[in-house]
Amino acid sequence: MLKGKTVVVGVCGGIAAYKAVELVSRLKKLGADVHVIMTANAVKFVAPLTFRSICHNPVITDMFEEPKMWDIQHVSLAQKADLIVVAPATANIIGKVAGGIADDMLSTTIMAANSPVLFVPAMNDKMYENPIVQGNINRLASLGYLFMEPDTGLMACGTNGKGRFPSPEAIVDYVKGILSKKSDYEGLRILVTAGPTREPIDPVRYISNHSSGKMGYAVAKAALERGAFVKLVTGPVNITPPSGAEVVCVTSAIDMYNEVMKSYESFDVLVMVAAVADYRCASVSESKIKKSGDRFTVELVKNPDIAAELGKVKGDRVLVGFSAETDNLLENAALKLASKNMDMIVANDVTVEGAGFGVDTNIVKFIKRDGSSIDLPIMSKEDVAHRILDEVLSIGKG
Ligand code: C5P
Repeated sequence: MLKGKTVVVGVCGGIAAYKAVELVSRLKKLGADVHVIMTANAVKFVAPLTFRSICHNPVITDMFEEPKMWDIQHVSLAQKADLIVVAPATANIIGKVAGGIADDMLSTTIMAANSPVLFVPAMNDKMYENPIVQGNINRLASLGYLFMEPDTGLMACGTNGKGRFPSPEAIVDYVKGILSKKSDYEGLRILVTAGPTREPIDPVRYISNHSSGKMGYAVAKAALERGAFVKLVTGPVNITPPSGAEVVCVTSAIDMYNEVMKSYESFDVLVMVAAVADYRCASVSESKIKKSGDRFTVELVKNPDIAAELGKVKGDRVLVGFSAETDNLLENAALKLASKNMDMIVANDVTVEGAGFGVDTNIVKFIKRDGSSIDLPIMSKEDVAHRILDEVLSIGKG
């Protein structure tokens, strides 16, 4: 799982240093080449020999000692590392890095790193909450350093609070997530629509649907993680867009249509996840409609079908659509794929538990232009998003 990956574990001087032994052991068992750098204080808690026996590499405790292997000198580990994990990370190392201080092997290696750096803070709860420490964490996080949240519970100092070292298993899961990221979308531009649209009836009322935007936002996030440039055209939702995307907020189907048609030409991949209203009001009242008779009729007219319009002009761009159905899933989805000239359609039966609107999971089938289909089991919307992106690449290459 981590074969071929070099992970540098920086161990600082906190009581949780002994838990880093299990972390190193787990990383090693997963096949990583693990190197340990200990601060001078860490050595007072755990003997370097313990780490050395587990990671089968020399443990670095002093910047000026004789190199034990030809390439272990000063910053060579910084260049070799795929990831640096500082666990436990004390207020001291966080403060030093935030302040630009590089006065020992660990701080020097972090400062010279090309790789992501993950801090796993563990300290007394009051220390963790200290505004200076929090300020340093925020500063480093804004610069792209990664932080794991400490656990809450009884700590070695006898207090109960937030500051406990997370389980080594949880840290390893986090590490796996960071190291398994692909960059296969680098250089590609992807346009994603998400969320519902709102079609106004009068200034206070509208017609809409239950779309939460979660699936579209997951596609945008996954594409960003894989290196794409992402434009997210989103209807009104209550979730935060992934950072790094160009986000354009729209309200009605016409707004969404205009925004997409204005920019699609510069994109390679178009993923239409939005639940666009098929109809809008023929006329929108300028003032709030008053309650009157027992019946009230709204006349609706057809909205443009964004995906279908893109299908007409897409050229060799890859066009993916969604098909949320309540019956005849496969036939309806296949018809849409053909009529909108899509390369792939993601069909989901929104009546099934664990699929569709609002929930964090989805159960989908992919149907491709060549008639082939892929049935996926229930999975998180993030995982569905990554599977869609995998297929888009295979279509693009085909
Ligand atoms: O025809 P239906 O609305 O079920 O098609 C769903 C697919 O078409 C989705 O990908 C959706 O984003 C897209 N669509 C669209 N514009 C519309 C209606 C649907 O882009 N007006």
